[in-house]
Order: sequence, then C-alpha cells, then structure tokens
Amino acid sequence: MSLETEAEVREVWSSGSYAQIAPNYLPMAGQLVDRTDVGSGDDVLDVGCGTGSVAISAARRDADVVGLDITPSMLDRAAENAALAGTTDIEWREGAATNLPFGDDSFNVTLSSLGHMYGDPPDATKRELHRVTRPGGRVAFTSWTPTSLYPALGGILATRLSAGDMPAFSEPPFMWGDRDTVERRLDDGFEDVQFDRECLSYPALSPAHFWEGLVETSGMFATFLEKVDDRGGLREPMLDRIDADFDPVENAVELEYLLTSATVTESDR
Ligand SMILES: C[S@@+](CC[C@H](N)C(=O)[O-])C[C@H]1O[C@@H](n2cnc3c(N)ncnc32)[C@H](O)[C@@H]1O
Repeated sequence: MSLETEAEVREVWSSGSYAQIAPNYLPMAGQLVDRTDVGSGDDVLDVGCGTGSVAISAARRDADVVGLDITPSMLDRAAENAALAGTTDIEWREGAATNLPFGDDSFNVTLSSLGHMYGDPPDATKRELHRVTRPGGRVAFTSWTPTSLYPALGGILATRLSAGDMPAFSEPPFMWGDRDTVERRLDDGFEDVQFDRECLSYPALSPAHFWEGLVETSGMFATFLEKVDDRGGLREPMLDRIDADFDPVENAVELEYLLTSATVTESDR
C-alpha cells in the first residue's frame, strides 16, 4: 500500500479512528471559517471535509455548504455529526481534490483544513480550487508546516521504510505549509495571499500518551508503521522528538500549521 490509487487512499483514511482525532483539530476549523468571514449567502466548499468540522462550522453561519471527501466512511460520519449539530442542509459529496465534481465558479468560498494537502499532484489540486471558485471569491486552507511534529515523525518513520513502501506523493503534502512553496503555487490566478503561522495544542498527558494515541487512531501512521520490522526500535526516537514539542504545563503537544488565504482572480482556465 503506497497510496498510488484512490482505492488505497480511501483504505488508509478509513482505517484507524479519525473521528477520535478530529475534535482536537476543531479550533483550526473554526479559525478557517472565521478568517474567511463566511456568512449568509455564501456558497462554501469544504475539500477533504473528513468528519465535517469545517462544513458544519460554516453551515452554522447560514452559508450554503458542500462537504467533499474521497473517503465514504468519513462522509457518513460527517452526516451524523451534522444531524447532531442540527445543520442538516449540508450536501455531502464523494470526490478527489484533484478532480472536483463541480462546475467552474460554483463557490465563492473554498476551504480545506488539512484535506486538500493530500491531493496529488499539488498543481492539479491548486487548479481545481481555482476553477471551482468564482473570481473575487476566497480560497483558504491549513497545512502542517514542514518543520512541525507530524512531518518530523513521518521523516523518522521513512528512515525505516524500503523505497517501495514509501507513500507515493509526488511532493510531500506538508509543503502546503511552506510559505515560499505556497507563494509559488498561488503565483498565477490568486492575489492578496495572506499567511498565518499558528500552533495547535493537542492534549496529551505525556509524549508516550501522544505516541500510543497516534498509533491507535491514525490510519495513515499505522499503515506505514506496520511495514517496519523493528517497530520497538522506533519508540525511543519518536518519544524524543515528541518530547521536544511537549508542553508539560499545558499537558499538550504543540503542532505548528500554516493558514493561507487568497482571493481568486480571472485567469486562463
Ligand atoms: C486530516 S483529515 C482532515 C479532515 C477535516 N478537514 C478536519 O479538519 O478534521 C484529511 C481528510 O482528507 C481526505 N482526503 C485525503 N486525500 C484526499 C483527496 N485526494 N481528495 C479529497 N479528500 C482527500 C481524507 O479522507 C480525510 O478525510
């Protein structure tokens, strides 16, 4: 399994228990919706909506919302969350960030919290975000920064994987958290590009609690960890790296991310 096909991507994201992780990322979802000032009359798309955090936050502000994800089980869970939240008007659609099942100019706000970053290749994702958003509309998304904890743990894991077992992304997803890279990617078709570097505090009683939780709940992490022969040998370097970002006063691990927002301009499509 190296994420070469959409079926493999779906399988990885259906494994583990993302619904347990998602509540910890809620502040990021709320911030994204607030930053784009979503409100009544807006047509909003949430790309890689997962269990619905961004879509539901936007619908609560009376926007018309579509949540899209490549993984059907995420959409089922998102619909359950929407029912619980009382935001039942959201449309849930299956699809890929690189090939969005919507016409040109369908939305005036296109958002993604840690979702679009997994679309590969990134140029296709960028093209689709631009295509489905009306000129003058806003596109905004978050991504882990390349120097933050998850990419670092992925880097340690990668040292133990054979070349054939590495995830087959043409570029690492978290390059969407690198300001220079994003500036270059949005160079054409976007203006007023703004960046905020932020930190999310992920509650954890200790680095070991964070590590065990990650292995148990993250399908992505567990999938690649399974391919490592000496899993026990990974524990110490992983805990050391987690400890570097662990705040014992807050009882939390600090996860750095980049929030990008930009206005769509007319360009050749
Ligand atoms: C880290 S989760 C983020 C979910 C949600 N946005 C949140 O804030 O909790 C990543 C989501 O992206 C979805 N995803 C992964 N690759 C995708 C792709 N190529 N196109 C659309 N969705 C994708 C996964 O199924 C998963 O639901």
